[in-house]
Amino acid sequence: MKMSVLVLPGDGIGTEVTREAVRVLERVATKFGHDLVLTEGLLGGIAIHKTGKPMPEETEELAHEADATLLGAVGLPEFDDAPPQLRPEKGLLGIRKTLGVYANLRPVRSFKSLLDSSPLKNERVDGVDMIIVRELNGGLYYGLPRGVEGEGLEERGTNTMTYTRAEIQRITRMAFGLARNRRKRVTSVDKSNVLETSQLWRKVVNEVAAEYPDVQLDHLLVDNAAMQLILNPKQFDVMLTENMFGDILSDEGSVLSGSIGMLPSASIGAQRPNGAFVGLYEPVHGSAPDIAGQNKANPLGAIGSVAAMLEYSFQLIDEATAVNRAIDAVLDSGHVTADLRPKGAPASTSDVGTAICDAIG
Ligand code: IPM
Ligand code: MG
Repeated sequence: MKMSVLVLPGDGIGTEVTREAVRVLERVATKFGHDLVLTEGLLGGIAIHKTGKPMPEETEELAHEADATLLGAVGLPEFDDAPPQLRPEKGLLGIRKTLGVYANLRPVRSFKSLLDSSPLKNERVDGVDMIIVRELNGGLYYGLPRGVEGEGLEERGTNTMTYTRAEIQRITRMAFGLARNRRKRVTSVDKSNVLETSQLWRKVVNEVAAEYPDVQLDHLLVDNAAMQLILNPKQFDVMLTENMFGDILSDEGSVLSGSIGMLPSASIGAQRPNGAFVGLYEPVHGSAPDIAGQNKANPLGAIGSVAAMLEYSFQLIDEATAVNRAIDAVLDSGHVTADLRPKGAPASTSDVGTAICDAIG
């Protein structure tokens, strides 16, 4: 199969983890006989430095031409005081929007060998296997009006949370479709006791649920959901939520896996005629400038994102399974990065990449 993949390393540890993820993709292509064509583009802080824009037009074009896009992370502290249009994160929001990847899938599971890496009691985390389905193209991140205006005590910042029925329907169908192939349980998270957007959200989720009588639905308010995620995470199968709640809950959820460095994500949109999804694949973690350039970041979130790419954008299930098995094998070996608090000396980013390639064979 011909696979054309755009790689956007981005900033900070994004470049380091992406390098390992690309090596893994190359290994899979060689082993399974696929024709991998890689292109590289600029996004985020590095794109601002080189072109003056967080998402240059060329990057946008390359993303539309590729079968799938692999992204590292964006964000650099030097842009903390930059105006909104000149922040690395604008590039990330731009690429998500231009590709129309409205469904951000963030699987959270516990790994036997990492139970001691979680600050929670082992019995609470052991067996966690859930997926957060985060709406990615709407809500507060994109709503208008937005901005800061006025002066002095009247200076005012505004963001708007808005969702249409169509937007809620498509992400809800995605969540229920996934639940059908899992434990058939959807928990929708909102703040419907206060927010009108959440009231519409709950109404539409209930309507869509009627199309899936085999899937059980319940609703949780987001504050309670944040607590339940720690108190009893095993109750969750598919957690469905809007953009910003999903951003927050997925960082919280990462604690269950042992480290945010472990979490992959798939952002998917339209389905092509052959069934493959338009997709953008990135680890859940950020650019971590504090450890950038030190070859110590955990590349497993990025490598897990390659597995997700193989599954959703190329429908290569055996290949995806090979990558996930290699991740399990490397975790079991104990040769892992410092964030996972290994018993012996921590492995480097590139050590882990090499071990994954070796495990794939
Ligand atoms: C994430 C990140 C991004 C987000 C930031 C970097 C804009 O936190 O992917 O979770 O908020 O979506
Ligand atoms: Mg986040």
